[in-house]
Amino acid sequence: MAGFTCTLLVFLHAGAAVRHAAAPFSMAKSYDDWWAYKESIQGTFVPGPAFWGLVNAAWNLCAIGKRQSPVDIDTSQVVFDPFLHPLRLSLGGKTVSGMLCNTGRHVSFLPERHRAVNMSGGPLLYTHRLEEVRLHFGSEDDAGSEHFMNKRAFSAEVQLIHYNQELYKNMSEAASNPNGLAIVSLLINVANNSNSFLSRMLNRETTTRISFKGDSTSLQDLALDQLFPDTFAFVTYQGSTTSPPCYETVTWIIIDQPLNITSMQMHSLRLLSRHPARNIFQSMSDNVRPAQPLYQRGLRSNLDYRRPGRRCTGPSYRLQVEDPTSPRTAG
Ligand SMILES: *[C@@H]1O[C@H](CO)[C@@H](O)[C@H](O)[C@H]1NC(C)=O
Ligand SMILES: *[C@@H]1O[C@H](CO)[C@@H](O)[C@H](O)[C@H]1NC(C)=O
Ligand SMILES: *[C@@H]1O[C@H](CO)[C@@H](O)[C@H](O)[C@H]1NC(C)=O
Ligand SMILES: *[C@@H]1O[C@H](CO)[C@@H](O)[C@H](O)[C@H]1NC(C)=O
Repeated sequence: MAGFTCTLLVFLHAGAAVRHAAAPFSMAKSYDDWWAYKESIQGTFVPGPAFWGLVNAAWNLCAIGKRQSPVDIDTSQVVFDPFLHPLRLSLGGKTVSGMLCNTGRHVSFLPERHRAVNMSGGPLLYTHRLEEVRLHFGSEDDAGSEHFMNKRAFSAEVQLIHYNQELYKNMSEAASNPNGLAIVSLLINVANNSNSFLSRMLNRETTTRISFKGDSTSLQDLALDQLFPDTFAFVTYQGSTTSPPCYETVTWIIIDQPLNITSMQMHSLRLLSRHPARNIFQSMSDNVRPAQPLYQRGLRSNLDYRRPGRRCTGPSYRLQVEDPTSPRTAG
């Protein structure tokens, strides 16, 4: 872990991103910190989602863009595309290590920089490198995901944010350019069992170490492939980042099989504060942007939702893991 600290990446206008290495999250006094999921924080006006595109010209896509995210996925409108490849995950080793952070807006896991984790396949024409695993969640179990399925929200959503490393040098350059980002999204229900990756990420000991904005803790040896269900289909569409500047550079891949976490894990997430320890407590929960209009965009899937009873069986409905030491390696 030498030289690795928990750093926050901000999608900035002008294609530049700031990484605050020494003092994580001590953000520049600029527009970049002037947005929130709820309008008012401690009595001060901070622009919420409805205002993001109005307060800063560089963010106007948030207001006028026609390819915005998240969206409601109406599965009756999804077009079956039999030529979509399975999703392919390349791990530099069996497991991933990094930092888990409370950014004040999200719970974010940032993988170590020296070992790349790559995502390809599916609708992706390029190999994309994992930059961040970001969690959105609600204050009640019936809300908390950014994407909806057939008008239904889930309790939480985990987003694997990748950038196109074949075309671009880094996340900030990719975020503002064509085919820049690929975000794989997994929806989460509250149940009496838990996904094993999320259990590692969200156990009580870990979450208490990131109670306040700016807190971080190191997480070692997570098996990223265990985040995925054994079999699944995905829906893909062209959209945007779900936070300012709302760049329309994202290929979204929504996994259609939800994961579970326990109500205990959900409860400990709701105890995370949006603010540093010295400020009053306000729960980070409901850190979601509302669904945006689909307009003329197409939704594609490797599953034919119009054929009832069709099941996801066979290798194209499994995550292909490229790592000789992994038990999940395709073959
Ligand atoms: C990820 O992709 C980069 C660039 O194509 C490559 O150098 C690296 O070896 C890949 N890593 C893995 C784990 O496949
Ligand atoms: C990202 O790459 C661009 C273009 O090469 C460069 O100007 C910028 O400084 C880089 N940003 C970071 C945070 O490394
Ligand atoms: C878990 O939930 C399922 C369905 O909600 C229920 O049938 C089952 O009995 C529960 N198991 C335990 C151990 O509580
Ligand atoms: C989630 O929990 C439900 C109810 O307990 C169960 O039926 C389902 O199989 C679980 N899903 C996964 C992915 O484990």
